This record gives sequence, structure tokens and C-alpha cells, in this order.
Amino acid sequence: MAINILTLCYLIASVTFILGLKMLSNPATARKGNLVAAAGMIIAIIGTIFLYEENGQRLGNYIWIFAGLLIGSVVGTLSAKKVKMTAMPEMVSLFNGMGGACAMLISIVEFNHLAFAKVPGFDSIVYPPEAIGHVIIILLGLIIGSVSFAGSIIAWGKLNGRVKDFSFNGQHIFNIVLLLIILSLSIYLVGWMPENAALIFYIIFSLSLLYGIFFVLPIGGADMPVVISLLNSFTGVAAACDGFLYDNKAMLTGGILVGAAGTLLTILMCKAMNRSLLNVLIGSFGGGNSAAKTGAGGKEQGSYKEISLSDAAMVMSYANKVMIVPGYGLAVAQAQHICHELEKILEEKGVTVNYAIHPVAGRMPGHMNVLLAEADVSYDKLMEMEHANDEFKTTDVVLVLGANDVVNPAAKTDPASPIYGMPILEVEQAKTTIVNKRSMKPGYAGIENELFFQPKTSMLFGDAKKVLQDLVAEIKSV
Ligand code: TAP
Repeated sequence: MAINILTLCYLIASVTFILGLKMLSNPATARKGNLVAAAGMIIAIIGTIFLYEENGQRLGNYIWIFAGLLIGSVVGTLSAKKVKMTAMPEMVSLFNGMGGACAMLISIVEFNHLAFAKVPGFDSIVYPPEAIGHVIIILLGLIIGSVSFAGSIIAWGKLNGRVKDFSFNGQHIFNIVLLLIILSLSIYLVGWMPENAALIFYIIFSLSLLYGIFFVLPIGGADMPVVISLLNSFTGVAAACDGFLYDNKAMLTGGILVGAAGTLLTILMCKAMNRSLLNVLIGSFGGGNSAAKTGAGGKEQGSYKEISLSDAAMVMSYANKVMIVPGYGLAVAQAQHICHELEKILEEKGVTVNYAIHPVAGRMPGHMNVLLAEADVSYDKLMEMEHANDEFKTTDVVLVLGANDVVNPAAKTDPASPIYGMPILEVEQAKTTIVNKRSMKPGYAGIENELFFQPKTSMLFGDAKKVLQDLVAEIKSV
């Protein structure tokens, strides 16, 4: 009976994971979706703790289990409350690493259960032949979990600046050789069942950790979100392996969903940057080393012109259509609320205002959507890139707020540019473009932006929040 109720718990959990994921695809329901999936996870955890039985025995060890749950919940809650929006990718990476570490530790524990079990006819540490399927899954969980754990920790360190880019000649060959050794040792372990199985198992474990480190170390900073998403899908697959191992349906469904969602997100981000995954993994775009004084192709840019606050206020007040292009700088300045204020007073004056959202604007997937949702900007006003690019031709004023790479025409015109081929917001098609940022410094890709030097573009320098506050005051007085 207990087992049946437990199966029901896992079924409910699996359904909530699927519903939660579906709800996450829309900003209006995303928060609820997160809560629904979390409730399902609590049901699965509580069900396992109190109802799971093996050989007629319940889990026990309640003090250890609840102490772990308590520490994890306190650390998780505090860090989630404290984290800044711009540091979200770091946190996702760290949490993902913990998932990989769990899968890795489960594999180590379960290997020891098998290897040292006394099975009739097997009195050495060698596992029984009928356990081969188990060993394969344990090894998969170990390798994928270790790569994901080590890789995620390096990604976390790179995003917060503690770990620097590092590569050496032939590193990709080194990585391939490392992977081949891991695979060969795994085949040897499963196929030949050597007496020194435990030693080989721990060599595979160490090499997988090493592979995770060397896999992520050379990848450029701007490509980190793609790598984190890829590692996320690895963790999902590792968790699904553990679900197989324990015949735990909730773990299996959860792992498969994370694996599939991570893979899809990785593909979508690569598409948004017009780059193949291979190019992300072996390229070094985003290291931030490029020169800033000249365009990416090395050409000298002309001069730029500035616009005063009162002129900007005037131009926007008398426009029919204004498009706001938010970028990383808007998030840094925390100017989303005042930006919404600007939108409202312009609309009161009869101006149509919309937002053009680039899929990789900011520093994490969906960054601008989350930021603007925080300020209660209506979701109907957010235009995806393709739609916005059609709209620019009939737009009077584009206001670029702290965005740079995502509006850089070099992505279309300069084959030498590191962002060449990345689809961008084609703001230069509008009648006028006003760019707000604090200086002429480059954005994440470390390259100059020829948009700032075009005749239809004017620069409005200053911190986005301060500039928007002053702009709102000016427009009120127009
Ligand atoms: P960026 O190209 O990074 O440009 C942001 C601009 O904001 C900077 O040029 C900066 O110029 C300005 N800025 C900074 N603080 C500001 C403030 N307080 N007020 C006003 N402006 C400020 O941003 P983007 O256009 O959003 O492009 C995103 C880039 O990050 C892409 O290269 C993308 O590939 C990469 N990336 C994306 C993600 C995801 S998944 N979204 C994750 C990591 C990296 P000043 O210093 O002159 O003010």
C-alpha cells in the first residue's frame, strides 16, 4: 500500500514538473509555474522519506536527512533572496553544479554497494554479471555528473571573475584524448570486470572531473550562458540515470525534462547568436580582449554627435511611434521602473511605445523580460526581434537604453567582427536613434559600435536611471 501511495506521489510530482515547465514559458504564469513544480518536488521528497521501502525497511536516518534538508533550504533561500538580477547566471551555474555533484556522489555510493556486495559465487570485490546494466548507468551518472559539477564550478568562477580564461596549444586535442581515455576505461571496466575495478572506477572519476575543468576553461565569457545551459542538460541526463538506477519515476521524469529543456535552450541561444555549438565550444568570442578604439574590422570611426535632454524630450514627445531597446546597462542601473514611467507619460501624450527584445540582451536568457515584468510593463508591449525589425522602418524614435552588442550593425556588415552573423536589432532603419550609455566604452564583446557614429544616431550620456528621471521631468514640462 505504502508503495502504491509512493507511486502516486511520483506521478503527481511528474505531472507538476510538466505543468510547471509549460507555465514557465509565459511571463504571466512563470512564477506560478515555479511554485507548482516546487510543490511537486516537495511531495516527491516527503513521499520518498516516509514511504520508500527496501527489503521491508523504511529509510530511517531521519536526523541526517532533515539536517541536510534544513541546511540546504536555509542556504538556498538566503542566497536566492540576496542574489542580484545581474548575478543570476552565476547562481544558476552554482546550483547546477550541485545537481551534478549529487549525481556523481550517488554513483560513487551505488558503485560501492555493488562492488562490495557479497553475492553467492562472488567473494571478491568484482560485481556480479547481472549487475552490468547497473554498472553502465552508474558510470554514466558518474561521468556526466562529474563533468557537469566541475564544469559548472569553473563557469561560476569565470562569471564572477575569480577564474580567468585559460587555454594552451592543442587543448582541444588534449580534451578529446582525455574523453577517449575515459570511454576506454569505462568499456574495460564493464566488459572485462577486472579485479581492480574500484581503482579504475576512481581513475574514471578523477579524469571526468579534469575533463569538466578543461572543457569549460578556454570558453569565452560571452559564451558562458550557452555552456551553462549545456551543462544544465548534462545534469538532467545524470539525474535521469539515477532515476533509472533507483527505479524512481519522479527523478527520471525530472531528469529527462531538465535534459531536454537544457538542450533546447542551448540550441535556441546558439541560433540567436548565429553560431554552431561547436563554434561556441572551440571559439573564444567574448573574452573581452578586442580593441575598442577602432571598429572590429580595424577601421577608424568618424565622430559622434550628442543630444541634450531637452531636445531628446522634444523629439520623443512629438513622435508617433517610439521603440525602446533595453540592454544590460538598464539592468545595471536598475532603471526598469522609471523606464515604465517614461512609457506611460509618452502614451498619455498619444505616442505609441513598444519594447524591442533581443534574445541575448543582458546577461541571461530572458533577462529583459524578467526586468520589465518586475516594473509591470505589459507583456503585449514586448516585441521579439523579428517583429521589432519589421517595425523599425515605421518607427520615429528608437531609444537604446544600455544596449550595445545587440544593436551593433557590424554583426551584418563586418565579416572580421567577432559578432558577425549574430542577428541584431536593426535600429538604424528608424528615423532617429537616441543611445543612452555612460561613455563610448564597448559592450560585452569588447568591440566598438559603428551605430554610434551614424548620422541618424545621437548619444545621450549618463547613468540610465538618472537620464530617464531627468527625461521624464523634461517630457512632463513639454
Ligand atoms: P552590452 O553589449 O554588454 O552593452 C551594455 C552597455 O551598457 C555597455 O556598453 C555600457 O556602456 C552600458 N551601461 C553599463 N552600465 C550602464 C548604466 N548604468 N547606464 C547606462 N548604460 C550603461 O549589452 P547588450 O547590448 O545587452 O548585449 C548583451 C551582450 O552580452 C551580448 O554580447 C551577449 O552575447 C552577451 N551575453 C548575453 C547573455 C545572455 S544569455 N543574455 C549572457 C552573457 C553574455 P558604458 O559603460 O559606456 O555605460
